[in-house]
This record gives sequence, structure tokens and C-alpha cells, in this order.
Amino acid sequence: MYRSHNCGELRASHINNQVTLAGWVQKTRDKGFIIWVDLRDRYGITQLVFDDERTPKAMMEIARSLGREFVVQVKGTVVERDSKNSNISTGDIEILVSELTILNTALLPPFTIEDDTDGGEELRMKYRYLDIRRNPVKNSLIFRHKVAQEVRTYLSGQDFIEVETPYLIKSTPEGARDFVVPSRMNPGQFYALPQSPQTFKQLLMVGGMDKYFQIVKCFRDEDLRADRQPEFTQIDCEMAFVEQEDILTVFEGLTRHLLKEVNGVEIEKFPRMTYDQAMQKYGNDKPDIRFGMEFCELQPSGETFGFGVFDDAELVVGITAEGCAQYTRKQIDELIEWVKRPQIGATGLVWIKYNPDGTLSSSVNKFFDETMLRHFANQMNAKAGDLMLIMAGATRKVRGQLSALRMELATRLDLRKPNEFAPLWVIDFPLLEWDEDTQRYHAMHHPFTSPKPGQIELLATNPGEVKANAYDLVLNGNEIGGGSIRIHDKKTQALMFDYLGFTPDEAKAQFGFLMDAFQYGAPPHGGLAFGLDRLVAILGGQETIRDFIAFPKNNSGRDVMIDAPAPIDSDQLEELNLILNIKS
Ligand code: AMO
Repeated sequence: MYRSHNCGELRASHINNQVTLAGWVQKTRDKGFIIWVDLRDRYGITQLVFDDERTPKAMMEIARSLGREFVVQVKGTVVERDSKNSNISTGDIEILVSELTILNTALLPPFTIEDDTDGGEELRMKYRYLDIRRNPVKNSLIFRHKVAQEVRTYLSGQDFIEVETPYLIKSTPEGARDFVVPSRMNPGQFYALPQSPQTFKQLLMVGGMDKYFQIVKCFRDEDLRADRQPEFTQIDCEMAFVEQEDILTVFEGLTRHLLKEVNGVEIEKFPRMTYDQAMQKYGNDKPDIRFGMEFCELQPSGETFGFGVFDDAELVVGITAEGCAQYTRKQIDELIEWVKRPQIGATGLVWIKYNPDGTLSSSVNKFFDETMLRHFANQMNAKAGDLMLIMAGATRKVRGQLSALRMELATRLDLRKPNEFAPLWVIDFPLLEWDEDTQRYHAMHHPFTSPKPGQIELLATNPGEVKANAYDLVLNGNEIGGGSIRIHDKKTQALMFDYLGFTPDEAKAQFGFLMDAFQYGAPPHGGLAFGLDRLVAILGGQETIRDFIAFPKNNSGRDVMIDAPAPIDSDQLEELNLILNIKS
């Protein structure tokens, strides 16, 4: 038996017990006549003690030779500590060691295995197995496990069945590029790794599974950001015989369950907002509603504003930063520079201060008199002490830019509290989205999403106006899930492919299996998928999903620990029939 207890378990009630522990040497303090060793495992730290009086000389020497991260086993007696440590659960006791075995030695780790480590990101990724020994990473993985377990408990309790779907499939169009896998047995042919199990879960509904879920890896070859990984995990769900309301109810229930069980937070009803409202009020389809700062579109009081920048703009819109009238010139200039950065791309920012003494000052004093400024302040519900920030230009662009500024200001003003949770359903998404590059409409969610009842005719005349039975779940300004009610008849699906620019032959080649299935009694169905990594990160009070993934990829999509991707040797290339392709 390697151990009778773990390193986080022993208390004063165990005093005089004989125990066996195993773990890693966190640190050693050698006072000459007495040596303390902190022994660590997943559960905690237990202090070991060796001293001249009670420990044989040979063992003192071995204890003295222990290096950081050595793996050791000890047998000994639980004794009361002279000076107790209330910071750790085992702080009342220590182990007077009677037997010490070194199970393995360790090289000096390249960074300290402490909560605040001296290791940089890249180094920690290269030695991720050491990083995982640190509390912040270890606890994130344990947290993730808890969330996943609660998901399984809840959904199983609601009669959902977890079904695995294949990873070697044909491409599903979810908007990103596919990762492809060459097939040795079918020269020149490739599998694609699923961007999501979308078509399979729909086929499971045709198969009568009724309620499906899967905690499943998905693969997307897209540019990486803090909330994106090339392989990530979804809680993928689908239900038969449902309308949008049924789906929202079930998955609001799941989210509420998680918030309660994992975070101890109870939220009654999640608010809802249409996509159009979200864009108008927040310039964004995943608004963070933990704080206000809603958009206010400014209307000219007369014919025009008399100020070119506003008059020539499709949209003039502003936000009010409460209590920020005291911002210095430097602080405001900083904000202006911030919005002018290429990532945001604004041409400028108009500011109006509603000074605490009730007077108004602005960057556009030349153009607007006090009455006009007051008119703006009234429209924007500003009060003495507030700062108004206004942008003008093309609607879509300006909304995006002001939305970025709103989030930046909220961060600067510390309004994005990680332990406050504000879920929101965004519903009634457009079915299609215009793509400037290809000069074509694309499915905004995916091509299997159904238009709202009665809107299908609009496709012919006004495709951009068609709304879909599609919804996103937003938590603290992050899209944590999305889904839709699906098309379930062949005719509508064929029509949809046609609008999306697929020829009948292309549609048949790519999705013939789905349209065939629709002819064999497909039930009405719909579903949703949560991004598990994002959900876990946000519930954990963070936004970087990497910290909640055991072995993540870096920003260039590399696993720096195993050094992947990597070339493969020519024999393997040949066997896969890839050699010619690579050379040409
Ligand atoms: P969607 O593409 O919206 O929908 O994905 C669902 C959720 O997955 C998460 N997500 C990601 N998380 C980390 N890294 C990524 N690269 C990444 N991409 C997406 C997001 C997102 O909300 N098949 C549909 C679902 C459905 O219609 O039922 C789908 O995949 O949190």
C-alpha cells in the first residue's frame, strides 16, 4: 500500500495514528538539528518533521538530500505541531517520520511549483505536466470536472441519452475551415474532423433517440483568440418534437442548475432580447448586461446637426459613462487613441462632459452651443458628473466600434465583476448574413436552421430580413451556447441549399444523406450546443479558456509540449498517397 491517507486529510483527531503518505516534495526547511519537508499531492500539503533527537542519523541525511519535486513515501506518527498553520487544512499536525523512501528523484523544475509561479506562459505550456501540479491549474481542471459532472447529472435526469458520434467524418459547414485526415485505404480521399456533430445529432432525432447530448470534442481551423481553441469541447444537445420555447426552457434549466450547484448563485428567469435589440442597444449580439451604458442613437433637433461628421453619418450613437466627467484630457485622449487603433478602426470620438457644476463642455464646442449639448445630454439621460462618448459613421461599423469602447470602459471602470453572473438569451437571429468577400449570403448559424414560420417567401425578395428560429445563450458578454430549430423536410432543406448557392448536385453530394433521411419520417427537432470550455471559464470567473484545458494549444495552434503539428516521414506520406501532392 503506497499510502493510508492523502496529504490534505490529516487533522488533530488523527494525532498518534500511524500513517503512510506519498507525494511530491514541495519544499524543505533545514535548520540543522531539525528538518521540515512539505509533502504535496492533489489534496493538499502535509508537513513532515525529522529531528536530531527522534530521527536516525542516516534518515536525517536522506531527508537533507531531498530535492524539490522528489517523489517520496513516508511512514510515521501524526503529532501535534508546535506552531500551527491556520492557512492549510492539515496545519494542526505534522508527521514524525519513521521510514522514508525516495520513489523517484526529480530534476529541478524550470519554474516554481507555486500559486504565483515565476514561469512564463510558453515555458509552462512546454512543461504543462508541471504546471498542472500548481493549484490554479489543478483547481481549474477539478472545477471543469465538476461542471461536466453536473451537466451529465442534470441532462440524464431529464432523460437525455449520451451518444457518441464519429470523429472521422465528412465536412460539416459551421463557418470555419476543417481539419482533414488522409485516408490510407482510400487513396486521395480525406476525412474531416467534425466542427460539431450537427448532422449526426439530427440523424439521431430521425433515429428516434428523442433527447440526445454529448460532451464532445469539436475541431475548427480558425484564428485563435482567448476564447477559441482549434479543438474545444461542446455540450452538444438535440431534442425531437420541440419548439424554440421548449429548448430555451430546458437549457435555461441546465444553466440555472450549474450556476446553483457550482457557484451557489440562484437566478430566476433569464432575460431575453432579440438580435435587433441587442445590436441597437449594445452594438453586439452578445452583450454584457452586468452593467448599463446602453447605446443612445442621437437624433438631430432640426434638419441637420450642422456638423459634417454627424450629418454625413448613417448613425450617430453614444454611451454615457457615469461619473466620468472628471476624466482628464490625458485620459480622454487615451480613449480616443484606443478607438483609433487598427483593431477598432474608428476615425474619432466626440466627447461631452456634463460637469459636476451643471455646465457642459465638449470636443465639439465649435459646432454646438450649450443648448444643443444639453439636448444631447437629455437624449442620453446624462446627469451632472457624467461623460458622454459619441461616434458617427456607417451603422454596422460604428456599432461594433462603440461596443468595443463600451467593454473597454467597463473594464477600466471595473464594472465586469467576475463573480456576478448575467445570463441573457439573444433570439430571432437573421437567417442569413451577407459576406462581402464572396458577395453572397451565408447561413448565419448553419444551413440546417429553419426560417421563422411564414418568412420563407421573404427569401426570394428580401433575404437579409428573414429571421431564423435561432438563439444564443450569452453569459457575461460571452457567447456560451447557440442553437436553432432545424429544417426537417427535404423540400425546405433543398430550397435553403439553393439560396446558399449550392447546385442540386453539390447539395446532394455533400448532404444527400441528410436529405435522404428527411424522407423517412424526420420529426420536428431542434437543439443547442454550449461551448464547455467557455462556460467553465466564465463560471470560474475568467475568460481565457486555455487555463481550463489540460493540454491546450498556443496562439499559433501548436502544442509546444509534444511539438505538434510536426512533419511526418516520407514512408508515412507515401503510404497516405500524399507525396505527390506535397511535391507539386
Ligand atoms: P456554434 O458554432 O455556435 O454552434 O458552437 C456552439 C458553441 O461552441 C463554442 N465554440 C467554441 N469554443 C471554443 N473554441 C472555439 N473555437 C469555439 N467555437 C465555438 C461557443 C459556441 O456558442 N452545431 C451548432 C450548435 C447547434 O446548432 O445546436 C454549433 O456548433 O460557445
